[in-house]
Order: sequence, then structure tokens, then C-alpha cells
Amino acid sequence: MGAPYPAAHNSHRRPALGVFETIGTETHESVHFGVDAATGLQAIVAIHSTALGPALGGTRFYPYSDTRAALVDVLRLSKSMTYKAAAAGLAQGGGKAVIIGDPAKLASEELFRAYGRFIDGLAGRYITAEDVGTTVPNMEIVGTVTPFVRGLPVENGGSGDPSPATARGVVASLRAVSSHLWGTSDLRGRRVAIKGVGKVGFSLAAMLADHGVELVVADINEQATGAAADQFGAEVVAVEEIHRVECDVYSPCALGADLNGEAIPQLACAAVVGSANNQLAEPADAQRLTARGILYAPDFVVNAGGIINIAAEAGGYSPEKSNIMVDRIHDNLREIFRTSVELGISTEEAAERFAETRIEAAKSQGDES
Ligand SMILES: NC(=O)c1ccc[n+]([C@@H]2O[C@H](COP(=O)([O-])OP(=O)(O)OC[C@H]3O[C@@H](n4cnc5c(N)ncnc54)[C@H](O)[C@@H]3O)[C@@H](O)[C@H]2O)c1
Repeated sequence: MGAPYPAAHNSHRRPALGVFETIGTETHESVHFGVDAATGLQAIVAIHSTALGPALGGTRFYPYSDTRAALVDVLRLSKSMTYKAAAAGLAQGGGKAVIIGDPAKLASEELFRAYGRFIDGLAGRYITAEDVGTTVPNMEIVGTVTPFVRGLPVENGGSGDPSPATARGVVASLRAVSSHLWGTSDLRGRRVAIKGVGKVGFSLAAMLADHGVELVVADINEQATGAAADQFGAEVVAVEEIHRVECDVYSPCALGADLNGEAIPQLACAAVVGSANNQLAEPADAQRLTARGILYAPDFVVNAGGIINIAAEAGGYSPEKSNIMVDRIHDNLREIFRTSVELGISTEEAAERFAETRIEAAKSQGDES
């Protein structure tokens, strides 16, 4: 009788790191691959956890160098969505999707319809929204073939642009930091340096100006800084200078990895509170900030306002309901700061434990029922 499998299966050659090996280093529930030959769709959905509810997270459309790079990214992003949703107290799990390719070349109505059918096939275990490389109009097309999409325009029953809600969450975080450090949640007279006055940063500047905060801003976009100077009396400094500005709070609202071995020694603030994702370049940066006596408000807790706003669509969206939910970020952070002090751990570690406690509690409740 011949060998049941081709010879390669029985050989002792070490296989290249394959899909299951890549996934196996993580703790995801499932990973789904979607293809559509007619439109060139190649998509991956990673569901990290549904312990707290259906996995919610946006769709990133990006020209990844290869499938493995896309897989690694979607695994990482979906896991961070679990932590973000759990720390925000949402009845949502963590998931994320990536579409491989250049959206400028590949995006089409047919592709998003095919993508919508793929999402629909997951029967609600994963709910999508826009992210880098996709737009609300793209998601409206997805919404024509599946109900499992959020963040649609207000006129279509959705919650619209999440950025003002994200900015509101940053303000709630600043109030928590102020209470922790200075014994008052009143922000009047504080000096805040914002890096990046885009959708979130500009909205944040407007809110802080209303609170009587003195603003310093920097952005590669001079129109944005000019508008912040005109409308809120913000002082404008160079992009290379903003993290060195003497201030109460430094607020990274541009790109990630802003807090690194080079920048942290130059900071001249008492706290860091911003909307940017993945602010710490590496885990050791959390300790670097602690060692400098700078209070770091963990980004995934601070910037959850957008996802909270989207989650507020469940049962009918209203801005009032969303605002109440977003403002809870204040109490969550206060608890995280207390844990960090009590246990002598970094605020980042305290925030991770805070999220993990909620996930574990949901899992053990699920086991009992
Ligand atoms: N929009 C949301 O609701 C939301 C939610 C959660 C997290 N975030 C994160 O917050 C950050 C800002 O998001 P956004 O929606 O405001 O994006 P955005 O693109 O509207 O704004 C980013 C701003 O940063 C500026 N910028 C880019 N590189 C810069 C640099 N090197 N130095 C200074 N400024 C620079 C850009 O010119 C732009 O004005 C991102 O990291 C995003 O992932 C946003």
C-alpha cells in the first residue's frame, strides 16, 4: 500500500512558519479568511474574544507586503480591541478585519458587497466599522448586505463620526488625571500640549478651550495649527518641540510610538493623556515614564470614546446616552491609578489587569450558566 499522504508530509523538514503557527502564538477564538475572485477581495477577520459580547472592531484596508504581515496585524489589532472594550465596560468582545491591497486601486462597490457577504456569514460574531483605509460610505455599501456593521451616518440610524466622542473621552481622562495629581477635576488654568490637531486633537482643543485650559499645539498641517491659534488662542510650536514643552499634560493625538527611549527623557510634563493608539513604542516605556514620575493614562482606556459611541448604537443611538457612557472613562481611570499605586505596578499593567478582570468574570459567569 502506498503512503497515505504525499512524501512532503512525512518528511522531517521544518516547515516555514505557517498560518496556524502564527495564530498559535496568540489566544484568539477564531480567524476567518474571505476571498472573492471576481473583485480581488482577500480579507481576514480575527475574533480575539467574544466573552463579553460580539467582537467589535473596524476594517483596515492596507497594502500589506504579504499575507503573514496582514495576519500578524489583524491578530494584534483584534486583541487590543478586546482590552479596549473590556476596560470601557462594554458588552462587546474584540475583533478586527483587514482587507489586503491598496484601497486606491482595489476598492469598488462590488468588493465591499462581497466583503459584506463574508461578514454576514460570520452571523454576528464579528461586527465591523470603518478604520484606516476604509470610509463611512464603504461601510454603507457593506450595510446593504449585512446588519453587522456600525458607525454609519446619523441619518442612516448610525452614530456618525466617532472623533468628538473620542475627544470627550480624553477630556474625561484629563479630569481623572487632574483629580489624582492635583486633587481637583477642574482643568481651568492647566497647560496642555497637543501633538496633532486632526479630527480628535482639534475637537479636544475646542473642548479644553471651553474648560479654560491654556493650549500649545503642533501639527505637520499648518492650516490645522493656524485654525487652533485663531479659534482657541493656542500657541503653536514646531512638531519636533511639542513633547519638550513645559506643561501639565502632554497629549499625543497624532501617530503611535510617540513615547520612546529618546522622547521620554525630554518630556517636561506631569502626565501624558492622548488619543493616539499604541503610544508606547515598547512595553519598557511604561516603566520609563513611571521612573520619571510622569503619570501615563493608558491609551486604550483614554481613547475608547469612539468605540463606546459606536457601541451606543445598540438599542437606538442618542448622543446623550453615548456621553454618559463615555464619561465613565473618568471612573475607570481613577480605579486604574489606585491599583497602580496600591500594587506598585505601572498604570499600563494596572489597565491590562482591569480589563482582564472583566473578561475573566464574564468567562466564569458563562461557565456557570
Ligand atoms: N478618530 C477617532 O475616533 C479615534 C479613536 C481612537 C483612536 N484614535 C487615534 O487618535 C489619533 C488621531 O486620530 P484622528 O482621527 O484625529 O486622525 P487625523 O488623521 O484626523 O489626525 C491626525 C493629525 O496628526 C497630524 N500629524 C501626522 N503626523 C504628525 C507628526 N509627525 N507630528 C505632528 N502631527 C502629525 C496630522 O496632520 C493630523 O492633523 C490616531 O492615532 C488614531 O488612531 C482616533
